[in-house]
Parts: sequence; C-alpha cells; structure tokens
Amino acid sequence: MSFTEEINSRKTFGIISHPDAGKTTLTEKLLLFGGAIQVAGAVKSNKIKKSTTSDFMEIEKQRGISVATSVMSFHYKDKLINILDTPGHKDFAEDTYRTLTAVDSVIMVVDSVKGVEEQTRRLMEVCSMRKTPVIVFINKLDREGQDPFELLEEIEKELKIKTIPLTWPINRGSSFKGVYNIHRSTLNLFKPSTQRVSDETITFSDLNNPELETLIGDKDAKKIREDVELIQAVFEPFSREEYLKGNVAPVFFGSAVNNFGVQELLDTFVEIAPMPRGRETDKRFIEPSEPKMIGFVFKIHANIDPKHRDRIAFMRIVSGKFERGKYYHHSRLNKDFRFNTPVTFLASDKSIVDEAFPGDVVGLYDTGTFKIGDVLTEGEDFQIRGIPSFSPEIFKELINTDPMKSKQLEKGITQLTDEGVAQLFTQQPGNRKYVGTVGELQFEVIQYRLQHEYGASCRFQPLSLTRACWIRSSNKQKLDDFIRFKQTNIMQDKDGNIVYLAPSDWFLKMEMGNNPDIEFHFNSEFKTEREIV
Ligand code: G4P
Repeated sequence: MSFTEEINSRKTFGIISHPDAGKTTLTEKLLLFGGAIQVAGAVKSNKIKKSTTSDFMEIEKQRGISVATSVMSFHYKDKLINILDTPGHKDFAEDTYRTLTAVDSVIMVVDSVKGVEEQTRRLMEVCSMRKTPVIVFINKLDREGQDPFELLEEIEKELKIKTIPLTWPINRGSSFKGVYNIHRSTLNLFKPSTQRVSDETITFSDLNNPELETLIGDKDAKKIREDVELIQAVFEPFSREEYLKGNVAPVFFGSAVNNFGVQELLDTFVEIAPMPRGRETDKRFIEPSEPKMIGFVFKIHANIDPKHRDRIAFMRIVSGKFERGKYYHHSRLNKDFRFNTPVTFLASDKSIVDEAFPGDVVGLYDTGTFKIGDVLTEGEDFQIRGIPSFSPEIFKELINTDPMKSKQLEKGITQLTDEGVAQLFTQQPGNRKYVGTVGELQFEVIQYRLQHEYGASCRFQPLSLTRACWIRSSNKQKLDDFIRFKQTNIMQDKDGNIVYLAPSDWFLKMEMGNNPDIEFHFNSEFKTEREIV
C-alpha cells in the first residue's frame, strides 16, 4: 500500500460516556462485529469498579489492565480502525481529556434512561473545543427509556450541538421492536442476542409499503411513518461536511448488550468518520501527508509491577512513517532517541511494530524521558497545540514528612505529574508545592507510589481552593501588581505559566470584576472560556 493509501485507510477514534452508559460494552461489540474478537467477553473491562480510596491499589491494578486495552485496532471493510480507550472513572477524567487530543472523532454513548449526565457534558465540552466530529449512540433501548424526541432535545440543549437522527426507534423497553434507518431506508428488527455478529435488515425504499404492517403491526407502522415524517420536517438533512466540522452529530439508537444497532453504527462510522487529521503546533499546521515523522505523547502509563520501573508512553503519529530502530528528535530535550521495541495493540494483544502511520498510536517504553505533550520529529522543534490542562477540582499541599528524602520526593512528584497523574503548582520563592486533581483517589495513589517507587514519604494538607486560572495581561504593570497583591494565591504550573488559585468562584468573579486588565483563563491554552458555575 502506498503512504497515502495507508493514511486514507485509517480511522482513529474514542468512545466516551458517563460511567455505566455502556462504553465498555459498545467497545467490545464493535470489536466483535469487526471480527477482532470471536466471542463477547474476550476484552477485559478497564472499568474501575471500586471507588473507595482504600482500594486504590486494586484500582491501579484495574487501571493497569487499560494498558492492554489502551488502543484496540482491527480491520473492517478495508479500513484500519484504531479505538483509543478512555477511562470511565471520574477521577481519571484528565486522562480521558488528553486521550481526546489523539483521536480524530468520537462516538458518544448516552444511556436512554438517564439521558445526558455530568461526564457526558464535560467530555462534550472538550470535543467542542477542538471541533471533534461526534456520533451519538443512544443505548439501552431495551429498557424503558425517555422519549427519543425529548432525548434529542436534551442533547441539543445540554451538549450544545445540533443532532440529526440517522436511525429511529420503534418503541422502547419491553415493546421495543427495532430501528428504522432513515439514512439507508432499512428496517432492523430487534432480536435480543449477545453473540449475533450481523444485523438482519430489510430494505424499505417506500415506508408506505404495507409489508411494514405485517412486520411490526398497524399501530407501530403508523407511528414510525409519522415520526419519520416529523423528523424529515424538523431536522436538516444529514451533511457529512457539517459533521466533519463538528457542527452536527448524527444519532443512532440501539442496545449494545444485545448487539443491536452496532453494525449500523459501525457501517456508517467507516463511511463518514474522518481519516487521520493534521495537528496545530505553536509554529505551523502539520499535515498527515508530510513525509517526515512527527508524533506526540498524549498518555504515559506507569508499569505497576514494582520490579520494573518502566513506563509506556503512548505516541500518536501525526505525519510521516514511524520506523522501529530509527533515531528521532525529542524536541523538548533536544536529544535523539531510538526505540527498538515499540508496540501496538491488536484487540488485547501487544506486539512489536516495525512501522506505523499517521493515525496510529505506538507504545514506547520509557524510563522517564517523556512528559505529556512531548514531540518526536525528524529534526524540527515545536509544541503541539491542543493538550491543555484544565483546572483541577481538589487542591492539597504536599508536605514532606522525611526531610532526608527531599530529593526523592522532588524527583517522584515531578515524574508522577509528568505522567499526568495530577497537576503540580509551585510557589516561588519558597518552593511550596500544591497538587491539584479531579478526584480524591489520586492523592492516595501519589502517596503510595512516592513511597514505593521513590522511597519518599509525604502527607497532603487540604486547601480551601476551588479553581486554577491561568492569567496574563498586556499591561505588565497591572499583572505585576496583581501577582504582588495576591502572592499567597499565585503559583506556577509545570511549564512556568502563572496561575491564580481562587478560594471560591464567588471570589474569582470578584477578582475578575476588580481587575479588568487581567485575563483569567480556565485552561492552560486559553482556547475556550469555561463558564463559572
Ligand atoms: P461503561 O463502560 O460506560 O461504564 O458501561 P458498561 O459497558 O460497563 O455498561 C454498564 C452496564 O450497562 C453493564 O451492566 C452493561 O451490561 C449494561 N448495558 C450495556 N448496554 C446495555 C443495553 O443495551 N441494555 C441494557 N439493559 N444494559 C446494557 P452491569 O450490570 O453493570 O455489568 P455486567 O455485569 O452486565 O457486565
């Protein structure tokens, strides 16, 4: 295959949802329909089932499983599909946000009973920020869910994206009969099954065909005709272009656990989802077709085996061909490295790869060389845009409890935060360290890992802070004054950016009002302004 054909054949995406909506189930079913696994249940869930902090090692272990399922690749209809797995657990939300920088599109799973939930909203915010194309899969139609029209209205309102249903359900719950595919004019009758690997569809070029009554009964035939008429009147016709721009989300209905609606989703996905896209950098836009290899690290996973300190850095290839054993330039360290055992993942099997193309993700064994956002090139230096840090939700001060091990603590906390386990804010002068996370769990994980991997001991002192804001101003004097007046709340992030840590949203609003010359940004790249709640 030529280089261009290699690129064109790839589709790299992520499945996202609020926990329990069915992400793991749908991932597995896509692999089953794609022929990557033979029986359902073959892929281990990386779902973190327990969330009590005392179980955190168990959680880390379960999280370890996600190394194997971090990227799952399979061939389907002459395309190579790369699914990037994202942790569902809220405490690992930052991991998910970063993984979204490495995908070209997403499938968002929504539970038809619960509708749009908290995590769905946040994840969509990240997708909108990057204009990532989204397909919505409304799951669990076998349960007594909400009215589909109301669900779409809720999605439009809550997720701020226009929807276009491509399939439409005939009833739901115990009377669920199947879906009508408006896009392809086919009827897919519901038969619960966990092992069936293809949908049996009947083509209906004319919905007025009386055959419909025979198949689903008079009442439901009338209802689906009315619904489809209404949909065609209310929703715009589907435009792939608008979907690719991230302006509209096509919607599918189904039941992942019953293997229902999965094939329709997969078939449409391979038809419409984008091929590997380029990435913005601080210098220029990189096109996938450029001959020189450029890749960036979006995730670092520590090996939880204490005997092996190595980590796996996941690198998304943006352009060119990646080759095993070839020297690449590490832009931040200004040093060249080569990788003799890069790995890729096929379903749950890890194997060494000789070459990889734009859209692919390779796992590189790392002994502390990489930091999230690092770039490998064939010589050029730049930073990839679009891997911002968001404000953590919980802040605690890191207190060293063994002054003899200060160096170990410093090294440990730097490396763990390079991995993206948490965010580190440092105050100068004084070198006070605040750690920010989205969940309590990380503090225990950090404490445990500092002790076991670096021999350092610490404790965490809670802080009454609620939000980090990256600040800047075109008026240097005003910025300097603000920094001086607010010095107890001013810290630096890992890249040396100035951050104001607000004690409350009320306080933050007041500071914003009092300091019109200072820009307060809610992520480190200043692209979108998150609403203050
Ligand atoms: P997640 O990764 O988004 O967190 O969700 P996951 O796939 O684990 O699914 C959460 C629960 O919802 C699972 O049940 C799963 O079987 C169920 N589920 C998924 N799809 C459907 C569907 O179409 N219909 C119905 N009724 N249920 C569905 P569980 O009891 O938590 O786990 P399990 O013991 O069944 O594995």
